[in-house]
Amino acid sequence: MYRKEYSEKKISVEDAVLLIKTNNHLVLSGGPIEPWSFIEKMPILKNTVRDVRVSNVLSLKAHEVMINAEYKGVFEFEACFYSGVQRITEKLGYGSHVPTHLRNAASGILRQNSNPDIFVVTVSPMDKNGFFTTGPGVIYDFEMIQKAKVVIVEVNERFPRTFGDTLVHISDVDYIYEVDRPVPGIPDSPITDIDKRIGEYVSELIEDGSTIQLGIGAIPNAAAKELIHKKDLGIHTEMLNDAMVDLYYAGVITGKRKNVFPQKIITSFTMGSKKVYDFIDDNPLVFHFRPHYTNNPFIVGSNNKMVSINTTLQIDFTGQCASESIKNVQISGTGGQVETSIGAQMSNGGKSIITLHSTAYIKKKGEDKKIRVSKIIPFLEEGTIVTLTRTDVEYVVTEYGVACLKGASVRERTKMLINIAHPDFREELTEKAKKYNFI
Ligand code: COA
Repeated sequence: MYRKEYSEKKISVEDAVLLIKTNNHLVLSGGPIEPWSFIEKMPILKNTVRDVRVSNVLSLKAHEVMINAEYKGVFEFEACFYSGVQRITEKLGYGSHVPTHLRNAASGILRQNSNPDIFVVTVSPMDKNGFFTTGPGVIYDFEMIQKAKVVIVEVNERFPRTFGDTLVHISDVDYIYEVDRPVPGIPDSPITDIDKRIGEYVSELIEDGSTIQLGIGAIPNAAAKELIHKKDLGIHTEMLNDAMVDLYYAGVITGKRKNVFPQKIITSFTMGSKKVYDFIDDNPLVFHFRPHYTNNPFIVGSNNKMVSINTTLQIDFTGQCASESIKNVQISGTGGQVETSIGAQMSNGGKSIITLHSTAYIKKKGEDKKIRVSKIIPFLEEGTIVTLTRTDVEYVVTEYGVACLKGASVRERTKMLINIAHPDFREELTEKAKKYNFI
């Protein structure tokens, strides 16, 4: 019944890109649902349009229009969560960061309730009822489909079909083009001995029957692997990944003791390898809901024994977590770190866990070799953004142990954090703690 409408709305990718005009506001989906074929054609606009505001998020590919300064003036990018690609666009002077919690990403893009000119998203093929799905996720897509003047879908034969807020009806779509390519993803990152030790400490904090959220990065993945002997865990997370699939098939995830959608796996988006995309395909166990719902701290905290596991880049002696930038360099974004950490602490029996390696290898300006620095430091450096404030931090875990900062004084926090810092830095950190009157 909808086939005729489908064929009438079909155009080429090139014609879809040519709909963009000077001064338009273009919104592109991001992460695994970023419309790659559309973005790859955007260079054709180089000499014909100017000042197109482009909102996007977490690009998983270095697209020409985002890494070449010749596109400055043609496009102006803005993103609420960066990958390495968005970092390049910012460095080249035509990209900027939009600070926001993930659940507010849509309202951020729609400043003053505006209507974007064009929204482009990748979807799975249409079913007999005229529905596509946004497959592995929904970040601001649900709201953009309602608000954008023109909605274009990139139909990918290989996209998984999912349940939740991912449905897109053909009557809401203006143009369609088809592609056939693998779903963008990230490989399952290798787990180091340090990640494993952190995972073991995290596992000790998680009781049977807990509901878990795993953040982005290698450590939460490692932590999941250490949960293999737990019983009746549930998942309420912003991002579903490969490690959670392993736990499901091992019988660890049953969701039986969850309060919000018992038994169901709740997420906003899924990102990983083919393994996790195959898992969510046509799987009525998994619901992808808007972060406006999934990440609402009240909803997160409605689960008993809710445990959030996130990662930070640096933490100071008072407990301030810098999880998205180092000095003036924006590395990622706030994402759902604050929402899930606060939500977990609102939960009956819940815990919020921040993980980090005790050290990082970094290259200082003017030096060739990388040097090792402590990630536990007395003060955050000038320009570094605080993601999770010291009033919202609870457990902190490194490969040297666990510090529970909740309710602890700054003096106690300093001592506890130095205890889980790398032994090579403890003496220096203690001297600084004394010098600045922390202890
Ligand atoms: N000083 C300077 N640079 C540092 C650093 C430090 N103390 N610690 C890390 N870095 C650099 C790394 O070298 C790396 O740089 P590169 O990309 O140029 O190689 C970059 O920061 C990312 O570090 P890495 O350890 O690889 O990060 P990760 O993949 O484990 O992710 C976070 C860690 C904190 C960036 C990630 O968890 C995040 O974005 N968190 C905020 C959002 C969030 O928690 N969301 C949760 C819900 S999904």
